[in-house]
Amino acid sequence: MKRSLIDILDLSPAEIDELIATANDIIANPAKYAEKCRGKKLATLFFEPSTRTRLSFEAAMYELGGNVLGFSEAQSSSAAKGESVSDTAKTVSCYADIIAMRHPKEGAPFVASRAASIPVINAGDGGHNHPTQTLTDLLTISREKGRIDGLTVGFCGDLKFGRTVHSLIGALSRYKNVKIVLISPTELKVPEYVLQEVLEKNGIDFEQTTDLQKALPNLDILYMTRVQRERFFNEEDYLRLKDSYILTPAKLKNAKQDLCIMHPLPRVNEISVEIDDDPRACYFKQVLYGKYVRMALIMKLLEVE
Ligand code: NCD
Repeated sequence: MKRSLIDILDLSPAEIDELIATANDIIANPAKYAEKCRGKKLATLFFEPSTRTRLSFEAAMYELGGNVLGFSEAQSSSAAKGESVSDTAKTVSCYADIIAMRHPKEGAPFVASRAASIPVINAGDGGHNHPTQTLTDLLTISREKGRIDGLTVGFCGDLKFGRTVHSLIGALSRYKNVKIVLISPTELKVPEYVLQEVLEKNGIDFEQTTDLQKALPNLDILYMTRVQRERFFNEEDYLRLKDSYILTPAKLKNAKQDLCIMHPLPRVNEISVEIDDDPRACYFKQVLYGKYVRMALIMKLLEVE
């Protein structure tokens, strides 16, 4: 049975633990994995801009000894001629062994997974989900903190359109005693379905606030996000909200000494570059970990031993 990864909850907690363990083993023993996907092909079908996600998928496949094909913009694919996502998925199933797809429409990778005869990985669908960023984030948290249970995690910025936020909240809702602090302008609060179907339904201890300074001293993890310009209906709202939160060294004064500052990137203005040299800045480590956890995921979905 082919398996796809559309939503982070498609993976059981035990499977996530296993992927984290494999990623840690790849970091420790990369040579062991250099031939695991020899002869296999990954297709990256990106209908939306990307730097890290696409390149980390491609680097992951190369480091497993496999090959990569694909496109990085809708305009250079037959989508520009009006081809459906299903037909594209059926076509690519003839040429590749696994697909990583990013699409501006929520649900497009799911539709592709129904049509494809090979596994499909959701590499971001609109303002909805981004499960492989979540695997990246969980690997980062577990390496930095040695655990995921019992942490207080603050999400700050665009919690409405930020798909990485939605997926990570879903994943965290299955760990023990995790506390979640949602910091955003009122207009950019997490969607109602995340509040009701994820946080409330699972009895997660959470609070919503607009005040980063007040929330900061209690946090173990601060997950900053970019205001998602491309999902706004008008430019004025974006301009008004884009600089709602800017993290600077002065603002970190009351933060924990072992705070872990994360960001899925790209950063626009939310974290001052002066913070990059602070030992608490973890966002570039996160970028690197993303490659290893995608190697683990590709092997799992291709059922490579
Ligand atoms: C994120 C995304 O595409 O959702 N980037 C990423 O994949 N690391 C975050 C963002 O674009 O703001």
